[in-house]
Amino acid sequence: MDTKSSNSKHSTIGNDPATDTQKSYDRFAYVSKAGHFAGLMHGDSATMLKSLPNNVFNVAVTSPPYFWVRDYGYDDQLGHEETVDDYVDALMGVFDEVKRTLHPEGVFFLNIGDTYYSGNGQPHGSDPKCSSRNFFRKKVRPVDVSGWDIPKKSMIGIPWKVAFEMQQRGWTLRSSIIWNRCNAFVEPTARDRPYRQYEFVFMFSKSRFYSFDRSKLVEEDVWNIPIERNRRAKHNAAFPSELVRRCVEVASPPNGHVLDPFVGSGTSVLTSMAHHRNVVGIDMGDDYIDYVQGAIESEGYHSSSWGDLVESLQKPSPLWDEWAGNRQNFRKPGTAKKV
Ligand SMILES: C[S@@+](CC[C@H](N)C(=O)[O-])C[C@H]1O[C@@H](n2cnc3c(N)ncnc32)[C@H](O)[C@@H]1O
Repeated sequence: MDTKSSNSKHSTIGNDPATDTQKSYDRFAYVSKAGHFAGLMHGDSATMLKSLPNNVFNVAVTSPPYFWVRDYGYDDQLGHEETVDDYVDALMGVFDEVKRTLHPEGVFFLNIGDTYYSGNGQPHGSDPKCSSRNFFRKKVRPVDVSGWDIPKKSMIGIPWKVAFEMQQRGWTLRSSIIWNRCNAFVEPTARDRPYRQYEFVFMFSKSRFYSFDRSKLVEEDVWNIPIERNRRAKHNAAFPSELVRRCVEVASPPNGHVLDPFVGSGTSVLTSMAHHRNVVGIDMGDDYIDYVQGAIESEGYHSSSWGDLVESLQKPSPLWDEWAGNRQNFRKPGTAKKV
């Protein structure tokens, strides 16, 4: 972290709340003139989430590290597990906590992509456009080692493995939205298959009955949203703000509460702020947290106390009762519209 961590907005949790080890973790709270909070937590998501209260966030939206696709340049990053099962378990360590902190009527949007099993040994050549993908010229990834029980060159099917495990853990899978990345790059190595143009955005609910403002949906389950090419914080895997905006607007009232456990360059934080929500983002990357702190400050937010942020999260939005998405306001089929 940079020197920002020595000023008043910085609070150190102390020891790792899960293991009580010596490593300290940081969190930062900010508030806008209008009273909206933005919180950042610097550390491992599964651990950091444990210090957040139960049942508070209206919506969670995130894109975790995919399995052996990138290197974020530090130890203990998620996505570098030895097996797919270990990867799914690591994600569940985070998403079980997302579930606990999500409001009972809350919704979780999970953007997740797949990985190919190559089994071909260490790859050669390089991708000049994206240094964070070139690490596998140096490290041997498990997906490059032969001996798996699926044919070489297979897509592994990771998004669905994750979705099925989420169901086992009690999440209701309500939609498998296709995010059509209409301006996706060509894949130079994909000479004998179509380029990958879409990714999934799974929509999960914590309970069968939940809150959702359909009037804010701009497309049904195929979302045509270009990738944004302006790389904030040199992050190569940012999702577009339009994708976050849709998730936030359909699943939270104005002044509601948003969570992103893998915040990266801060797309979800900045988009939530622009749409008048309170938001908490978590990341383990020093440079990303540092960058997002600067971005929040340049939006005119001031440092605040973590206690005030938590207190605000524990109160529903003042517009919760009247919000069109509140499930109490849904009209049951066949009943008259309330006047
Ligand atoms: C796909 S990126 C998220 C990008 C983000 N949606 C954006 O728009 O910039 C995944 C992020 O997860 C972070 N990460 C990896 N392992 C982590 C962990 N164990 N705990 C918290 N963050 C982690 C990485 O630093 C990276 O920024």
